[in-house]
Amino acid sequence: MKLHEALRIDLAPLNRDLIAIAESDPDLRAYPWIGESVTRLVEAGGKRLRPMMVLVGGRFGPEPDPIHVQKAALLLEYLHMASLIHDDIIDNSDLRRGIPTLQRTVGVAPAAHIAAYMMARALEWAMEGEREPTEEEVRLGSGDKPRLAEVASLLMQLCMGEYQQLGSRFRYEVPLADYLEKSRNKTAVLMANCFRIGAELSRADKTVCKQLYAFGEALGMAFQIRDDVLDYSETTAEIGKPAGSDLRNGNVTLPVLYALEDGGPALAAAIRALGPDSPEEEFARVTREIAACGAVERSLAMSRDYARKAKRMLKRLAPHPAVADLEILLKYFTE
Ligand code: IPE
Ligand code: IPE
Ligand code: MG
Ligand code: MG
Repeated sequence: MKLHEALRIDLAPLNRDLIAIAESDPDLRAYPWIGESVTRLVEAGGKRLRPMMVLVGGRFGPEPDPIHVQKAALLLEYLHMASLIHDDIIDNSDLRRGIPTLQRTVGVAPAAHIAAYMMARALEWAMEGEREPTEEEVRLGSGDKPRLAEVASLLMQLCMGEYQQLGSRFRYEVPLADYLEKSRNKTAVLMANCFRIGAELSRADKTVCKQLYAFGEALGMAFQIRDDVLDYSETTAEIGKPAGSDLRNGNVTLPVLYALEDGGPALAAAIRALGPDSPEEEFARVTREIAACGAVERSLAMSRDYARKAKRMLKRLAPHPAVADLEILLKYFTE
């Protein structure tokens, strides 16, 4: 069974709306290539994990608000897609969701503008989604207002993650803590916010929102580490993006850090000698050696540690019936 089916989520309206945002934007009439590019990226697929997280988060509150939750799901997937466009520019990548990346089809500058449009539009949406706070919320200093600030700050963290990636290119001495912080910024914070925003919109209890945030953060870390492993263990066809490209682009991910520690002096020297101008065969050879030295297994063990952390959060959320949906997500992320 597909993940969205297991979670009882109909993705069709979401996919339709994702396309409609740019296609029906009157400001974009003179620039049809923007809408066309977004449509191509939506239609190419993608797992829609983040909107599903928002929708599941929305099941934790006493006052389900399907309209705003659906809207939040839409805007967070939109932000995610924009960040993928930026990421592919930074990683100089050829393939995304099994089709050529935007910068390969429309060029780097237009692709950067499309991503900027999508981010700006998502913020505009976040603002529209805000309702007037009730008197009680004003008195308590709570209410909807911080949500726009939250979306802006998670966007900032996404950007930080990408700058950290850009700034540590081919820097093999990068500490593990920096790798983890980068992964948190570029992936885990967004997933954490997806759960939390969904829960907040349905008026879930503050503690529940915090626990869901922690669950999403741990799940996001497990996910990014697995993604970094896939780059060494799967083929391009399997992942729909170029396998082995992290090493080629100088992205020093967990398997590389572990290979430097455990792979022996010859492999460590070969890794450290890699730079932007190294020959393709050398990248291919070193990639194979990293994949074979135990670094993949050790990385997966760390991913499982984060999954276990997420599981511990489930215990705290346990009396709620929607915890069963978190279990489905956790299983999907660890299988
Ligand atoms: C890709 O995310 C970026 C990472 C955080 C590794 P996904 O693997 O969720 O990408 P899509 O949305 O399914 O294409
Ligand atoms: C995740 O990092 C990128 C974003 C969260 C934008 P990766 O660089 O590992 O993502 P992929 O592998 O290109 O999808
Ligand atoms: Mg990338
Ligand atoms: Mg990756």
